[in-house]
Amino acid sequence: MCGIVGYVGKGTATSFLVSGLSKLEYRGYDSAGVAVIEGGDLTVRKFKGRLANLASNIQTSPIKGNIGIGHTRWATHGAPSDMNSHPHLNSEETIAVVHNGIIENYLELREWLKGEGYTFKSETDTEVIPNLIDYYYHGDLFEAVKKAIKRLEGSYAIGVLSKNEPDKLIAVRKDSPLIVGLGEDQFFIASDIPAVLNYTRDVYLLEDGEIAIITNSGVKLFTEDGKSISKEVYHVTWNEDAAEKGGFDDFMLKEVHEQPKAIRDTMTSRVSMDHSICLDDLKLSKEDLENIDRVFIVACGTAYHAGLVGKHVIESLAKIPVEVDIASEFRYRNPLVTDKSLVIVVSQSGETADTLAALRNSKKIGAKIVALTNVVGSTVSREADHVLYTLAGPEISVASTKAYVTQVIGMYMLAMNFAETKGTLTSKELDKLKEELLDLPEKVELVLEDKAKVKEVAKKIYKENDVFYLGRGLDYALALEGALKLKEITYIHADAYAGGELKHGPIALIEEGTKVITPFTQDDLKEKMLSNIIEIKARGAHVIGICYEGTKGVEEVMDEVLYIPKTLGMFGPILGVTVLQLLAYYTAKEKGCDIDKPRNLAKSVTVE
Ligand code: M6R
Repeated sequence: MCGIVGYVGKGTATSFLVSGLSKLEYRGYDSAGVAVIEGGDLTVRKFKGRLANLASNIQTSPIKGNIGIGHTRWATHGAPSDMNSHPHLNSEETIAVVHNGIIENYLELREWLKGEGYTFKSETDTEVIPNLIDYYYHGDLFEAVKKAIKRLEGSYAIGVLSKNEPDKLIAVRKDSPLIVGLGEDQFFIASDIPAVLNYTRDVYLLEDGEIAIITNSGVKLFTEDGKSISKEVYHVTWNEDAAEKGGFDDFMLKEVHEQPKAIRDTMTSRVSMDHSICLDDLKLSKEDLENIDRVFIVACGTAYHAGLVGKHVIESLAKIPVEVDIASEFRYRNPLVTDKSLVIVVSQSGETADTLAALRNSKKIGAKIVALTNVVGSTVSREADHVLYTLAGPEISVASTKAYVTQVIGMYMLAMNFAETKGTLTSKELDKLKEELLDLPEKVELVLEDKAKVKEVAKKIYKENDVFYLGRGLDYALALEGALKLKEITYIHADAYAGGELKHGPIALIEEGTKVITPFTQDDLKEKMLSNIIEIKARGAHVIGICYEGTKGVEEVMDEVLYIPKTLGMFGPILGVTVLQLLAYYTAKEKGCDIDKPRNLAKSVTVE
């Protein structure tokens, strides 16, 4: 979604603005712009398309000011165009605003402002904000911003500049992420930490309703009612390299290769043969667990697919009923959440609007909330009762990979911890699981070493219009994730079906040469799945299987087999997904797609 940056200091504002925006490109965008106060006036440059358009314009005709704001826009209200790009100005062109989020009552505000004599140039919801600030401006920008935000409904992170107070940048956050970077004699705002990491590691993580006034002499923080507050500085410990490609062609490929490390980091100090599974501050007693009426796992996209694995393992190991929901459905379907429910929200970014709403709705009812998230200090992590961090490191590519595998590891750890506490597994059974779990990073490394074969298969599918994924049990969850990866980065239509559903409709789609990918990691469902494969083969399907080394009888029925090391069925998704991620990646590469920034997609979906 949109990215925001801002700069106040002694340097040239645009050098940070452009570099900061480039670090936010992963969020997805279709236009970019800046506003800088230069010689007491507001200079605005904004263009549809890639950030490179803006950067080359500024290179040809530099802007000299030391205070500015910048934005990458992911279109919601109005098509991508120069005019709809941010920053937006008030009618008199004295105030500039960048905004991430959605102003839900903008039509009503727009009509009212028109009645007050204001004019509008764009189709965006954002343009009401500078005009509203102008309406309330009587010589004090902070007062005007405070009054204006009281009229806004929806979500916003905004940066505001005014030529009437040319040394001041005001930033406000509500339901959209925003941080303030604290450098030496220079200060920054940004939607995400990587934007400022070249400049500082010390940041304030703004909370909802907080306002920052930033000048050359420092940062002052206030509540939305204008009460001065102080806040702890958050020191970023992860390395800047973590947000760079490090020799790989694309972030996605780099992140897939980081999976062994991400899994190890996520298990460190939590899984060991010497002690019980430790889940940081999440310590539920046997009684707590027995009192839980139901577990709800709520998430979107890939995180939802990790939740499907979670349902399977929590139910089978800990014998607790689990419902898994897509957050945007859950929030509007009045689910039977009670104060005895445990709601696990899963979110890489910790900022996904629907997941956050599901968390808040459940919290109001009194349910206990556990967040499984990757971003320290994210909104989800701050609002949950307990946080279990996936330690995948920054994930830049829009297509989620290492975050997914660590979310699944998080689910295994939760299920094993619950099972141990409830006594539904013997210590011998638990030890076996732990042993296998601890071996997974090495096995993922072996899968990665075998990528040449995956590349060959990619060459056979990149020209397809449709690819199908078929699986049973955990392989169905895996099939869903494989299909999502393929469609989002290759734009090939991909659908996943449960093997047993074939005869209820999907088999009608199979014809001579149809490519069908079948994860085949669930030994207990092997015979059933083989029957499904034989049925589709009989109708001409070209079957690509993902099987454990040494699996008998598969080469006879499958056209291609991609082998993975043997593990317990429960852990099959970790190894299987690595193959499916590589397959999607190399297929996109064959097609020449922009893998890290797929069309129409944003990394962090901070609006509904
Ligand atoms: O940050 P989140 O985990 O909450 O994001 C959820 C989805 O938007 C995300 O997983 C999306 O489906 C990815 N693009 C999938 O690769």
